[in-house]
Amino acid sequence: MVENHVVLEDVRKVYRTGEGGGVNAVDGVSLAVPRGQFLGIMGQSGSGKSTLLHLIGGLLSVSSGCVIIGGTCLDGMSDSALTLFRRRHIGIVFQAFNLIPTLTAEENILLPILAGHREAGVSRSALHDGLEALLDRLGLTKRRGHYPEMLSGGEQQRVAIARALLLDYVTETQGTLLLADEPTGNLDSGNGETICRLLRDLCTERGHTMVVVTHEASVARWTDRVIQLKDGKVVGDLGASELEGLG
Ligand SMILES: Nc1ncnc2c1ncn2[C@@H]1O[C@H](COP(=O)(O)OP(=O)(O)OP(=O)(O)O)[C@@H](O)[C@H]1O
Ligand SMILES: [Mg+2]
Repeated sequence: MVENHVVLEDVRKVYRTGEGGGVNAVDGVSLAVPRGQFLGIMGQSGSGKSTLLHLIGGLLSVSSGCVIIGGTCLDGMSDSALTLFRRRHIGIVFQAFNLIPTLTAEENILLPILAGHREAGVSRSALHDGLEALLDRLGLTKRRGHYPEMLSGGEQQRVAIARALLLDYVTETQGTLLLADEPTGNLDSGNGETICRLLRDLCTERGHTMVVVTHEASVARWTDRVIQLKDGKVVGDLGASELEGLG
């Protein structure tokens, strides 16, 4: 039996808005994601997709319920323990790119890794080869020396994706949890397909588990399963057969 990589048990997130009010952004979600699954999360703007992804990534704490990643419950972990856990076990592509304006595309991609590549057992030459391959695969080779302000929105997005994936790409790490919030939101269909294919390959070849927020049916086509959110609740759970014909 395939082990569940991500388990959510009746997870709720209430954003307090003062005067005792609150927004039930995630409202009682229970979910099990088997290791190696490519899961899509869909739903209208404001339905709670980013909030759910941030809860899974341990970037937000739940109001109630439980988030379990690879058998480890995130609740009650200290901030420093969570940070370490995330660095070891989770890769995240944010909806905002958060690129550093004073660093080139290449430096941005390398930044999170330069400090930690020895710890991860990656030689400089392997890192170099992986970087070249990933830049090429994402169509960024000619833009590697550009600063973020000299890049288009779609190029910035691809740099942010490369930054999140590089370490994973060069190591033989198996079974990482990768989270992405609208990774193709700023891309034309050709570049969107390049990203989807890369995520799909990482899933299939490395056994990574992928949780990807998207509003595009063309992305859903690459997934194994899609859950639909509405007002913070799961209102649909579509498997491969139901996804055929999408996009
Ligand atoms: N920090 C916050 N404080 C209060 N309410 C918030 C906060 N962040 C999000 N919300 C509210 O929670 C709900 C869910 O937000 P969320 O960002 O998860 O939606 P989303 O599905 O990702 O939307 P989009 O597709 O526009 O990115 C929305 O109604 C939003 O207004
Ligand atoms: Mg969002």
